[in-house]
Amino acid sequence: MNTTDRKTRKLHVVTHGCQMNVYDTVRMYDVMRPFGYEASASPVDADLVSLNTCHIREKADDKVYSDLGRIRAEKEKKKAAGGRMLVAVGGCVGQAEGAEIIARTPYVDMVFGSQSYHQLPEMVTKAIRDGGGVVELDFLPVEKFDQLPEVSDSQGVAAFLSVQEGCDKFCTYCVVPYTRGAEYSRPYANIVEEAKKLAGGGAKEIHLLGQNVNAYHGVGAGGKSMSLADVIDAVAQISGVERIRYMTSYPSDMTDDLIAIHGSEKKLMPFLHLPVQSGSNSVLKRMNRRHTRDFYFELVEKFRAARPDIAMSSDFIVGFPDESDADFEDTMDLIRHVNYSQVYSFKYSPRAGTPAASDDKQIDETIKQERLARLQGLAHEQQTAFNEAFIGKTIPVLFDRTGKFDGQLLGKSEYMQSVYVSGKKELMGQIAQVKITGGFLNSLTGEVVAS
Ligand code: SAH
Ligand code: SF4
Ligand code: F3S
Repeated sequence: MNTTDRKTRKLHVVTHGCQMNVYDTVRMYDVMRPFGYEASASPVDADLVSLNTCHIREKADDKVYSDLGRIRAEKEKKKAAGGRMLVAVGGCVGQAEGAEIIARTPYVDMVFGSQSYHQLPEMVTKAIRDGGGVVELDFLPVEKFDQLPEVSDSQGVAAFLSVQEGCDKFCTYCVVPYTRGAEYSRPYANIVEEAKKLAGGGAKEIHLLGQNVNAYHGVGAGGKSMSLADVIDAVAQISGVERIRYMTSYPSDMTDDLIAIHGSEKKLMPFLHLPVQSGSNSVLKRMNRRHTRDFYFELVEKFRAARPDIAMSSDFIVGFPDESDADFEDTMDLIRHVNYSQVYSFKYSPRAGTPAASDDKQIDETIKQERLARLQGLAHEQQTAFNEAFIGKTIPVLFDRTGKFDGQLLGKSEYMQSVYVSGKKELMGQIAQVKITGGFLNSLTGEVVAS
């Protein structure tokens, strides 16, 4: 394909999974734009439809095939009208299942992984030339970040920026080390450059991303090793950037400079997602997590000492193989002890190829369901209490989207709460002071008092 062929084409990307996939989708549009592909909000009549997929749990996988069924119908309609729609499956399912996807759904023209989407233009050319059958699963993070075009300004007021990719931790339940490959840190200067571009495009909040973002160890000027705290420090100095966040952190990769910067850098938001997964030392050990519950408690205390108002969130898995009632009670106890502002919890889902999937002490679905319900009951109490405590306070909110109802705006507090107000569209993209009038399980409501 060459860039002089300027006929406008439509690209539609369907995104599932984590924030890293959201970032990758933005970058896929960036990759295809110079080749005449415009973003299209729907697959109807698109020239290229790409699924950016997630493999983390069985349910995530199922979405791929239900999406594909719908897209197939659109592809056939377009063909009947004399047109052509290419269908691609990228992301973590692409990486994990590869050519199997084409064998199962032959109307898929291309399959690729999360580390090779910079080659999308070449894949499109090949797919057109060969009538499909393109599979590209190389792990090429260095090449990918080298070859991706400059970021566009399309991310708006809150932007994602991937600084680190991949995972070397091999938790025994998790597919990520296989779908995303080994840990890789982008060079420090490239990140700072990209953050400047995002700020220039209107981003006031920059969310630094990585599967293990705090394992970041980039190379700076003169070969100096740079940490995530160094990146935060540099991004905080960019004019226009008012808020910085990062995720996801791995507990045992936490460093003192990163903890300390929570106390000294006002632009770093007082919210930390620090997944622990379980409160039982024996389960943590079998999960191959490199921390104990006491280590985790100490870490939480260190963060609270550095930034007393910091809000914490975590991921939990219930029903990991051989999880006993006592193990589960340890998890409940940990949650009571930490007191979270948000909790994400999942029933253990066996993933082919991971060690825990072949454990013969799998837990019954009904027990998993009961434990999940109990855990969520406790988590919801904590979340609601956290949010209710804001009633009557006036807090800054960054408005980044419109709500479902006319005149409704939706923004984020510093603690990552969703805040609904009724207000003028001019508030979009602004940070305004909001007096909180309601606190609920997943959101706050309030009135704008000043912008
Ligand atoms: N890198 C992050 C998160 C990765 S995936 C971390 O280390 O925490 C996001 C979450 O999905 C995980 O934190 C875990 O809670 C959940 N998860 C991963 N594999 C799972 C599985 N096989 N079954 C259920 N939940 C899983
Ligand atoms: Fe998966 Fe564990 Fe790596 Fe997180 S740290 S991505 S849970 S293997
Ligand atoms: Fe899913 Fe891949 Fe992210 S498996 S959670 S999209 S890294």
